[in-house]
Amino acid sequence: MIFLGAPGVGKGTQAEFVASRFHVPKISTGDLLREGVAKQTPLGLKAKGYMDRGDLVPDEVVIGLVQEKLSSSECSLGFLLDGFPRTVAQADKLSELLADQGLALDHVVHFVLPREEIVRRLSGRRSCSKCPAVYHIESIPPKQNGVCDQCGADLVQRSDDRPETVQSRLTVYEQQTAPLIDYYKRKDLLFELDGSGPVEAVQDRLLALLSKPRVE
Ligand code: AP5
Repeated sequence: MIFLGAPGVGKGTQAEFVASRFHVPKISTGDLLREGVAKQTPLGLKAKGYMDRGDLVPDEVVIGLVQEKLSSSECSLGFLLDGFPRTVAQADKLSELLADQGLALDHVVHFVLPREEIVRRLSGRRSCSKCPAVYHIESIPPKQNGVCDQCGADLVQRSDDRPETVQSRLTVYEQQTAPLIDYYKRKDLLFELDGSGPVEAVQDRLLALLSKPRVE
C-alpha cells in the first residue's frame, strides 16, 4: 500500500493508525531521513540541505533506503509506504523491486485536501522531539502546551514547516509528485480519499476504502 498526497494532508497521521490496526510495517522516507539528520549519519548530512529547502532528496538516496527496508523479513507479508515514491523514477524502481520479490501493490491511496487547509495543518503541526507523536495546536492539541502526552518530551516545529519552505514543498509536489496520480490511475491502483474533517472521520473513510474488494 502507498499513501500519496501533498505535504500536510494527513498521510503520516493515518499511516500510524493503519500500521497499528493491520500490523503492517510503515516505511516513511521522511521519518527515515529525519532520523538520519538527527543522528548526523552520512545519509542525513547529505539529505539535510534538500529537506531544509523543501526540495526532494535525490532519487538514488531514497531508493537505497527503501530497498533496504523492503528486503527485510518484516516486510515479507505486506507494508505501507508513506511519502514514497515521489517521482516517476522512484515509482519505476519500486515496480522493479516488487517484481523481483514477487510482490504487488494493492492500493495507492491519494489523499485530497484543499490548499488552505494544508497550509493550516502544516503551520500548526508540532512534533515530539523524542518519540513519533505528532500534534496540531488547534485540532489535536497536547494536554499540556508544548509537552508530549506520550513521553513528556518537548514539542518542536519541523524546520520545513516554516511558511516559505511550505510554499516550495507544495510547488515541488505539484511538479514532481502529482504526475504519480495519473501514473497509478493508468495502472488501475489509485483510490481517492477525502482527507478533510476530523482524524476519526478520515480513518472511517480509509477503512471503508481499504475493505472494498479489488477488481482484478
Ligand atoms: P515527509 O516527512 O514525507 O513530508 P511530507 O510528505 O511533506 O508530509 P508531511 O509529513 O509534511 O505531512 P503528512 O501528510 O504526513 O501530514 P501529517 O499526518 O503529519 O518529507 C519531508 C521531506 O523529506 C521532503 O520535503 C523531502 O525533502 C524529503 N523526502 C521524504 N520522502 C522523500 C522521497 N520519497 N523522495 C525525495 N525526498 C523525500 O499531518 C499534518 C498536520 O495536520 C499535523 O499537525 C497533524 O496532527 C494534523 N492533522 C492530521 N490529520 C488531521 C485531521 N484529519 N484534522 C486536523 N488535523 C489533522
